[in-house]
Amino acid sequence: MPGVSLVGSGSACLTVKLSNDDLSQRVDTSDEWIAARTGIRQRHIAAPDESLTVLATEAARNALEMAEVSAEAVDLILLATSTPDDLFGSACRVQVALGATRAVAFDLTAACSGFVFALVTAAQYIRTGVFKTVVVIGADVLSRWTDWDDRTTCVLFGDGAGAVVLRAAERDRLLGFELCSDGSLNHCLNLAYQPEAESLVGDVAVQKGTFAPITMNGREVYKFAVNRVPEVIEKALFRANLTTSDIDWLVLHQANQRILDSVAERLGLPAERVVSNMARHGNTSAASIPIALDEAVRAGNVKAGDVIATAGFGAGLTWGSAIILWG
Ligand code: COA
Repeated sequence: MPGVSLVGSGSACLTVKLSNDDLSQRVDTSDEWIAARTGIRQRHIAAPDESLTVLATEAARNALEMAEVSAEAVDLILLATSTPDDLFGSACRVQVALGATRAVAFDLTAACSGFVFALVTAAQYIRTGVFKTVVVIGADVLSRWTDWDDRTTCVLFGDGAGAVVLRAAERDRLLGFELCSDGSLNHCLNLAYQPEAESLVGDVAVQKGTFAPITMNGREVYKFAVNRVPEVIEKALFRANLTTSDIDWLVLHQANQRILDSVAERLGLPAERVVSNMARHGNTSAASIPIALDEAVRAGNVKAGDVIATAGFGAGLTWGSAIILWG
């Protein structure tokens, strides 16, 4: 059975920054409150001309460049996003923008777990021998769906895109994984369609409407994350035949610094093994893990042979962990 190797990472560079002080001009909040409760100091926001497709393409292009893989060599593009430019999907537009003429491309939606779910999905295509080269992208523009007058949610989110390139290899570097869903907790975090009946002809009415901004029960999501995430990482480690002491880097979905600290503490990992870019990016949903990974790789912190424990968690509710060997 072919194995999976991760051979490159990339992210998009967004120029517009929104600081906590900027936000406090819009809602009743403060830099002190946001920083103390979440660790966030600023987030990046997509400019009106920076579509999801543009950001995802830039991240993928940078990952391909690091991997020294041409766009024509890509067999599959998996775009994890909850905020496509088009409800029919945005992956095909990324495909054409990249020039990945041979690739099949589709979107995958699993909110903030999207990158881990897409990584594991991509790996199955490689392990079965169907595809040899896959680009996995996590990208979201949640600023489109944020209620900028709701201080309990708008301070948390930012926009971004990150990507990795996977290739078939002799040695499998996806060491273990575990994915979970619990729809009974769906109400805790939503970006739900709000149908409005519109009469068409006679008794026939159609659903018109739009998606409502993000709603969240912050305390419930917090509790869910600090309980489920250490558990799912331990299950993935078990499948990898490893223990927490084998982890070189913990790359969690960047939702809240307090969640990162609590998960690390429960796993018995020191703070220096925890990758965090919370202060600069906030929660970028499906983009947060590949951005954090890419920054750590480019900073020279993550090196070939390092064991990385990733974990995503969020709406669905969904959560999952993938243990990978970098390089
Ligand atoms: N600025 C100032 N005050 C705020 C505020 C803000 N942005 N948001 C909420 N508050 C107030 C509340 O109104 C409340 O006031 P009250 O005591 O007078 O009622 C107080 O701060 C405490 O609110 P609470 O919701 O208990 O705060 P918290 O410590 O639970 O922190 C979150 C709130 C959202 C930061 C935290 O619950 C969290 O991070 N949850 C997880 C969310 C998450 O990660 N979601 C994405 C998952 S993918």
